[in-house]
Amino acid sequence: MTTATTITTLSDQQLNSLSALVDGSTRSILSSLPLPSAPRCLEVGAGNGSVATMIGEHLGGQVLAIDLDTTHMRGSPGVEVARHDIRQGVPAGPFDFIHARLVLSQIPARKAVFAGLVEELAPGGWLAIADAGLVGNLLVAPRESDHEVWRRYNDAAYRQLGRTAGHDYGWAERTEVEMFDAGLADIAAEHLVPLARGGGPWAQYHANVSLMLEEELLAGGLCPEVLDRYRAMLADPGFRAHFHSLTYTVGRRPTR
Ligand SMILES: C[S@@+](CC[C@H](N)C(=O)[O-])C[C@H]1O[C@@H](n2cnc3c(N)ncnc32)[C@H](O)[C@@H]1O
Repeated sequence: MTTATTITTLSDQQLNSLSALVDGSTRSILSSLPLPSAPRCLEVGAGNGSVATMIGEHLGGQVLAIDLDTTHMRGSPGVEVARHDIRQGVPAGPFDFIHARLVLSQIPARKAVFAGLVEELAPGGWLAIADAGLVGNLLVAPRESDHEVWRRYNDAAYRQLGRTAGHDYGWAERTEVEMFDAGLADIAAEHLVPLARGGGPWAQYHANVSLMLEEELLAGGLCPEVLDRYRAMLADPGFRAHFHSLTYTVGRRPTR
C-alpha cells in the first residue's frame, strides 16, 4: 500500500469523528447560501455521507455523492451514491451546489479538479470548499520535553509524510484567490482554528491519525518512544493545542 493511499484511507470511526466535529460549520455555511429549491448538488469525497444526507434533508434537492471508497456511506433520500475518482473528471452538471470538504488539499491534481468543479456549476450555482491548514501550535505541554515530541511528530507526519503524499497545507487559504481568478462572484471565506484539549474529540481524532500512519511514521525514522509519548500527551487533560485550521470558502458562478 502506498503512502498516498494510506494517508487518505479513513476508518468509519475517523469519518464519524469528522462529521461530529465539522458538520456544524457545514450546516451554517449551507443555511447562509441562497440556493434554489430542489437544487442539483454534487458532494465530492463524501466520506460517510453525512453532508450529502444533510443537503438532501435541508435543501430537498438531488445529491450525487461521490468518493473513491463508498463503503462508509449509507444511502438516504435524495442521495445517489457513486464510486468515482474525481481525478478522472468531474461528473457532468450543471449543479446548483458543489461541496468538497477536506478533499482538494489532499489531491496533487487539485488545480485541475478545481477547474472542473467550476466548469460544472450552473449559472448562479455555488461552490463551497473546506480544507485544513497546518497550524501545529502546542499551547500547553504536560511536560517540558513534550515540545520536542510535538516537533518531531509534526515534522514526521506533516512536513515529511504529508508532503510526500502531495498534501498542500496552504491550499485552504489560497482557495479564495483561486475562486477570484476563476471568475466566481460573491466570494466569502471563514477561517476557524479549533482548540484541542487533551482527551477531547480533536485530540482523539489526531491520536487515531497517528495510529493509522504508524507504519509509515516508523519507517520514516520516527522513534516508537516518541510516538508513544505523543499519544500519551494527547490523552493528558493538561494538553492544549491548535493542530490545524479549517477554512470554508464559497463563491458562485455569475449568471452571465
Ligand atoms: C478527509 S476525508 C473527508 C470526508 C468528508 N468530505 C468529510 O469532510 O467528512 C477525504 C475523503 O475524500 C475521499 N477522496 C480522496 N481522494 C479522492 C478522489 N481522488 N476522488 C474521490 N474521493 C476522494 C476519501 O476517500 C475520503 O472519503
